[in-house]
Amino acid sequence: MKAWKLDGIGSALSVEEVADPPVRPGGVVLRMLAVQVPAYTRVLVEGGRGGIATPTVLGVGGIGVVEEVADDVTTVRPGETVLCTGLLQSGRTAEPEEVLLGWTGIGGRGRATSTTDRMRRVWRTGTFAERTVMPASTVLALPGAELHPDPTKLAFLSWLSVAAGAVERSGTAAGDRVVVLGASGQMGGAAVLSALAQGAGLVVAVGRDGGSLDRLEAVDPRVRSVRSVGAHAADAAAIGAALGGEADVVIDALGPTPTADLTMAGFDSVRTDGTMVLLGGVHQTLPIPYHQLMRRRITLRGSWMHSEETAFRVWRQVRSGVVDLSALEVTTVGIDDPVGALAQAERTRGLSITVLTP
Ligand SMILES: NC(=O)c1ccc[n+]([C@@H]2O[C@H](COP(=O)([O-])OP(=O)(O)OC[C@H]3O[C@@H](n4cnc5c(N)ncnc54)[C@H](OP(=O)(O)O)[C@@H]3O)[C@@H](O)[C@H]2O)c1
Repeated sequence: MKAWKLDGIGSALSVEEVADPPVRPGGVVLRMLAVQVPAYTRVLVEGGRGGIATPTVLGVGGIGVVEEVADDVTTVRPGETVLCTGLLQSGRTAEPEEVLLGWTGIGGRGRATSTTDRMRRVWRTGTFAERTVMPASTVLALPGAELHPDPTKLAFLSWLSVAAGAVERSGTAAGDRVVVLGASGQMGGAAVLSALAQGAGLVVAVGRDGGSLDRLEAVDPRVRSVRSVGAHAADAAAIGAALGGEADVVIDALGPTPTADLTMAGFDSVRTDGTMVLLGGVHQTLPIPYHQLMRRRITLRGSWMHSEETAFRVWRQVRSGVVDLSALEVTTVGIDDPVGALAQAERTRGLSITVLTP
């Protein structure tokens, strides 16, 4: 079978003929149907988004069909359409450790340990491939997905589940005024859809790319967009004007920004007793005034990945139409040209996504 192999950070992603992955204890063999290629994959391959255990087949998330399960696997059944989360958990309650397979990402403090190294050595696997073998705990059955008219759109379930994890952790309630920072990105676009599904009364979508923001406004009249100008005070004022006041919830889904200004503009807009959730890839220290956090009784929390329950809720929202994927614009790429696929992915943003159909 063919797969996209990465020999090391900084080396080219290449398509290679590799042996079909045999089933193994605790494992599930999947035939991949559709896998989102995130916009930043080229940057990740070049080392701009943290370490990856290599050599490896690259790729996280995606929709597949179960071909075979090990004797000890009871979570999914052969023939079922499933979501691959890629999130492997140590299962040790006292000191939980988590890694993403086939991608960058270690949970907790983000530092490799002998346990995370072992998890990524034993399961050196990814989803940019015709087939993959995954630990059963990283695979979720999606009953009814086999009837979905367009599995390429279901590839967005991976990003939607991550975004929904943040929206759920924010406690967003029906009628809330929600601000999404980085809404013009794919994660931010997913967060907007998730906040709408949660019943937000108003979603202020903040970003730079006008085309992505226009597309979000067209999804639902509850969405109001704000073009960031990259200046803290001006962005805070524009967000406040769009809200007509303050935000109940702010979700930060920004990519790596050179300053914390936009994140702090979002912080400024949080109401007393409001919540801010950090979900994105900002690598900055936040200058949060102690007395502001204290007096406004703000809840500030992080959100990394999601539970299986969250992903299953997202699937039910998609299945029932509560999350409407018709706004998604999908460009499909085949497995034969990874370099072209990564270039194509880099040109997509927001609700426009690139999906590998191997
Ligand atoms: N918490 C988790 O579990 C989790 C899981 C997966 C990914 N992530 C993180 O989520 C982040 C967002 O992902 P993504 O797929 O949407 O892609 P991304 O390319 O990392 O982020 C794109 C967003 O960031 C904005 N942005 C980038 N640089 C900016 C700057 N200098 N000033 C203002 N805005 C800037 C973009 O604005 P424009 O497009 O308008 O320019 C866009 O809205 C990633 O960085 C990733 O690290 C988190």
